[in-house]
Amino acid sequence: MAHPSTPKGIVITVPVLVLSLAVAAIFFFFLLASLSSPTPPSCSCPTSSSSSPAQQILSTRPQDVMWVRDQIQANGLHMQDNVLRKGINPRTRAQQLQDFIQYKGISHYEGEEANNHTAFPCPGELLVEEHHSNYGEPWAGGRDVYEFLAEAAHLTPESRVLEIGCGTLRVGLHFIRYLDPEHFHCLERDELSLMAAFRYELPSQGLLHKRPLIVKGEDMDFSKFGSGVMYDLIYASAVFLHMPDKLVWVGVERLAAKLKQGEGRIFVSHNIKFCSRLGGDECTKRLKSLGLEYVGKHTHDSLLFNHYEIWFEFRRSKS
Ligand SMILES: *[C@@H]1O[C@H](CO)[C@@H](O)[C@H](O)[C@H]1NC(C)=O
Repeated sequence: MAHPSTPKGIVITVPVLVLSLAVAAIFFFFLLASLSSPTPPSCSCPTSSSSSPAQQILSTRPQDVMWVRDQIQANGLHMQDNVLRKGINPRTRAQQLQDFIQYKGISHYEGEEANNHTAFPCPGELLVEEHHSNYGEPWAGGRDVYEFLAEAAHLTPESRVLEIGCGTLRVGLHFIRYLDPEHFHCLERDELSLMAAFRYELPSQGLLHKRPLIVKGEDMDFSKFGSGVMYDLIYASAVFLHMPDKLVWVGVERLAAKLKQGEGRIFVSHNIKFCSRLGGDECTKRLKSLGLEYVGKHTHDSLLFNHYEIWFEFRRSKS
């Protein structure tokens, strides 16, 4: 009787063995998983946004320029005159604005309906981007300034940045896009520029969710940015040269206290005559009394047009 039951017994015990091993394996898996991943509430590991390699690219790289050159060549493209042709109707900004005023769009709402389909109607002057011509250089120059400063300051998305005089956000947009929400701050006094920034640039670039802190205020009044915030990068692009030296020094004193020790940097473009007019030694002494030191002068080339800009770098002095 024992013999016939033996093969039967083996047949029964194999699935039982497999089942019990599986149960044990699952039990140990959950035991190990619960021991090895305690998920602490204050994890200092990098967030997915900062560790993603695409987020870390600050500047246009040589391989990017090669790629775009190849695309133009592969498509056989050459620069053409911008003249009237099928589907293309070249107009100046002034003509575009006139079209807006005269409602020449294909389909537009009229009467009562004209006021309830657009979330935040924008003035026509801003829609035709008149403000892109307000600051001298091509609008694209803002990208050059961003790329230089972001590399020079070793920017990360967690960095905090303050711009003195961000105008229409020609430079600031690029910082806002890269940085974490609320990490870009700016003081600007020109109201038209601020309207262009808030009503057109931020919405049209899809950057409202980045909640930049942009404050209308007179020169060098940083009281609205809070007393506790410390910046990794503070910069002024073609701003100090339009101010009296005395006011610049008032600002520099206030900014010194808001600059992070160590990695924090202040960058000033074009010239630092507010400093050099004092004479070299006096300038160094004055900076030292504010806890600052001059690091050096940089130039950087433009990606798109024949131009370079000069930047002067400062940091907190070590002692
Ligand atoms: C806009 O207003 C008109 C007229 O009052 C109304 O018929 C229409 O439903 C409204 N449209 C929206 C999107 O609210």
